[in-house]
Amino acid sequence: MATTNRTALITGASAGIGSAFAHHLASEGYNLLLVARRAAKLKALADELTQHHGIRCDVFCADLNNSTAPAEIFSFVEKNRIEVDVLINSAGLSGKDAFAHTPWPTLAAEIQLMMTSLTELCHRALPGMQARGWGRIINVSSIAAFAPPGASLLYTGIKSYVLNISQALDMELKPQGIHVTALCPGFTHSEFHDAMGTRDQANKLPGILWQEADAVVREGWRAAMKGKPVCVPGVVNKIIAASVRPLPIALQYQIGNRMNPFKQE
Ligand SMILES: NC(=O)c1ccc[n+]([C@@H]2O[C@H](COP(=O)([O-])OP(=O)(O)OC[C@H]3O[C@@H](n4cnc5c(N)ncnc54)[C@H](OP(=O)(O)O)[C@@H]3O)[C@@H](O)[C@H]2O)c1
Repeated sequence: MATTNRTALITGASAGIGSAFAHHLASEGYNLLLVARRAAKLKALADELTQHHGIRCDVFCADLNNSTAPAEIFSFVEKNRIEVDVLINSAGLSGKDAFAHTPWPTLAAEIQLMMTSLTELCHRALPGMQARGWGRIINVSSIAAFAPPGASLLYTGIKSYVLNISQALDMELKPQGIHVTALCPGFTHSEFHDAMGTRDQANKLPGILWQEADAVVREGWRAAMKGKPVCVPGVVNKIIAASVRPLPIALQYQIGNRMNPFKQE
């Protein structure tokens, strides 16, 4: 049976880190609203979690590339009298081609999904959290936000935005009992590299760089409950993040440039 009266809205719940959050929060008795595009995956997960944990689990299929999706999700929330106490913005992906060679609609969709929809969902979740005096928001950023600037990829810039906006919102909202955490994972086992088309390259990376999604989620959830604005999960990721940040900006640029997969000599 549900052991809290609280509900978590999770985007990107059909796979990877979002799905692991759904399992973890269901095991703690949270009711859930699961969002992603693949209806069958969401429905199967909702059935499993309802059966195992006795929680209420709603699903809403939405393509967060569409600018109308956040409003549609919250009109479902209002119609079904759901109180969103926890918002987890996990939906995301990365293109793998150079900026200049990527069609604008593809880049615009990445910005809509991981910046505009994410930010609008935060904004729409706030009035209810403010009225109840309690809320937690986890925005899934990436260790890419700490890494040297990633050549050509929009992804690094987007995840830096997610890190910065999450800290800014946390500063504004914590006096009202609402904490916002930027969760910044490194390489995590999920469908991410299949969607990106880089599975072969990813498989060549040393095992020490990888984490399981449920380990990322456990550490991220602990940080959110403690009201920490930033969580870099795993020892290796913490070392990487801590060693890049203090370097002079020019040196960070040089490192990023040396690692540039699109470099033209
Ligand atoms: N895995 C890693 O190595 C890694 C590292 C750092 C950060 N991250 C970040 O972690 C987050 C979760 O990624 P993951 O590793 O869990 O990847 P994943 O297994 O591929 O899951 C991505 C989720 O996002 C959803 N999604 C993608 N596009 C969507 C759209 N247009 N509308 C709605 N939902 C959409 C997918 O569902 P549908 O396809 O059903 O829509 C899926 O549920 C992402 O923000 C990613 O940038 C991942």
